[in-house]
Amino acid sequence: KEDKLKDIISHAKEYGFVFPSSEIYDGLAAIYDYGQLGSELKNNIKTYWWKAMTQMHENIVGIDAAIFMHPDTWKASGHVDAFNDPLIDNKDSKKRYRADVLVEDHIEKIRQKIEKEVAKGQKRFGDDFDEVQFKATNPNVLRNVAKIEEIENRMRESLEKEDLVAFKQLIDDLEIACPVSGSKNWTEVRQFNLMFATELGSVAGDSSKIYLRPETAQGIFVNFLNVQKTGRMKIPFGIAQIGKAFRNEIVARQFIFRMREFEQMEMQFFVRPGEEMKWYEYWKEQRTKWHLALGLGEKNYRHHDHIKLAHYANAASDIEFNFPMGFKELEGIHSRTDFDLKQHEELSGKKLRYFDPEINENYIPYVVETSVGLDRMFLSVLSASYHEEKLSDGSERVVMNIPPALAPYKVAVMPLTKKDGLPEKAREIIDTLKFDFNCQYDEKDSIGKRYRRQDAIGTPYSVTVDHQTLEDNTVTIRDRDTMEQERVNIDVLHRIIDEKVSL
Ligand code: GAP
Repeated sequence: KEDKLKDIISHAKEYGFVFPSSEIYDGLAAIYDYGQLGSELKNNIKTYWWKAMTQMHENIVGIDAAIFMHPDTWKASGHVDAFNDPLIDNKDSKKRYRADVLVEDHIEKIRQKIEKEVAKGQKRFGDDFDEVQFKATNPNVLRNVAKIEEIENRMRESLEKEDLVAFKQLIDDLEIACPVSGSKNWTEVRQFNLMFATELGSVAGDSSKIYLRPETAQGIFVNFLNVQKTGRMKIPFGIAQIGKAFRNEIVARQFIFRMREFEQMEMQFFVRPGEEMKWYEYWKEQRTKWHLALGLGEKNYRHHDHIKLAHYANAASDIEFNFPMGFKELEGIHSRTDFDLKQHEELSGKKLRYFDPEINENYIPYVVETSVGLDRMFLSVLSASYHEEKLSDGSERVVMNIPPALAPYKVAVMPLTKKDGLPEKAREIIDTLKFDFNCQYDEKDSIGKRYRRQDAIGTPYSVTVDHQTLEDNTVTIRDRDTMEQERVNIDVLHRIIDEKVSL
């Protein structure tokens, strides 16, 4: 599993999808740059989302709010007080951990231990021996804390009650029962606010302290009435936005899965109070369909309904994706009630209400939010597309089966040789295609090597111009996935590519 992630990371770097940020200075943890192919892929994902949200829904419009917002925004939203992660340091190794992630690591270790014991039991007693029997026959084997549910409950409770002493006790117990770090010398658990702060202008002091936004959603909430009034929007309606968000994540690992600077694609859907659960279910379904339409494989998705809710939500569900590290959150669907608008009303002193002509009532709308990380989308596409294949002739290839609509280049056009007017003919073909499709011209190396290069960057089609082309206006077109080649007239290229790359 970890190896697959490593392969993807090095492939992404080798071909110009993702580079570590400021690499010549040895990089910056959890910050990445998108290269020449990565930015194309990222733009295509954005367009796919933006169109699905705005163009396909007449009652959803998009905005582009600033990253910096008035500091009261974050007081109102609860982020100043509650956007924290529990933090713990190991005094021996000087390593810093997110306390809940540390507990999850313990749980994982315990799971592995149980699996091993069950496998041993099965060898001795046959296949019927399972986890239940194992636990029944070994009540003390992992001491009492080894009961995973109990550990999860203790963690949830201490987080909900903000009882950091109880949280620390849990980690101490776990380190005795099933050590992860090998060291029992921990600091207390403390809360760490994830927002990056800076100062506006040249006057220091609290009044000028501002934050880099940790979510794009608040830019939508504070513009709710601006958009509703100027766009003459009627409830239910939505506002969509794509933009950067920043979080000072404690654990920086797993490539672009958890970054300190990342992008979100969010949509707040404003509804009549009391109708939020209906819309919550609607958006859960819509967003799932959107993911499935990409064709990355239905089995790679699952839902996870939250029990522990964020400070603003009354229902929340994640769409999880099967990343190389296992199933993890890709998108969140949240029913945010009227929490945010109400808070902004209170702090700003401005009414944020909607007059509903159908029921003749003035109210603060309820909000259902869909929020997907663009970088996580990117990683889901990379990881589901990356394949190492053994071919029938014994050779191997790396192919990225990127959904054609998202592929950085849609077609590569290649002259078989660099002479006899073939390059000119290839460029002529590109001129007829490049307005509608991102095309790549390639004349370097053997044709076989060039095909491999296009496979490795996920170009759905390669078109080869040869001497016959000059005689009868035909070319060969090669399909990335099947590797089959077909001889077709140049005039039908546009149609063939168009059919393949439109969603
Ligand atoms: N406005 C709601 C909100 O921000 P969230 O669950 O904290 O909710 C939404 O974040 C999505 O943003 C996540 O599902 C994930 O895809 C993405 N995301 C969150 N933190 C991230 C990080 N540190 N790096 C990359 N993506 C992140």
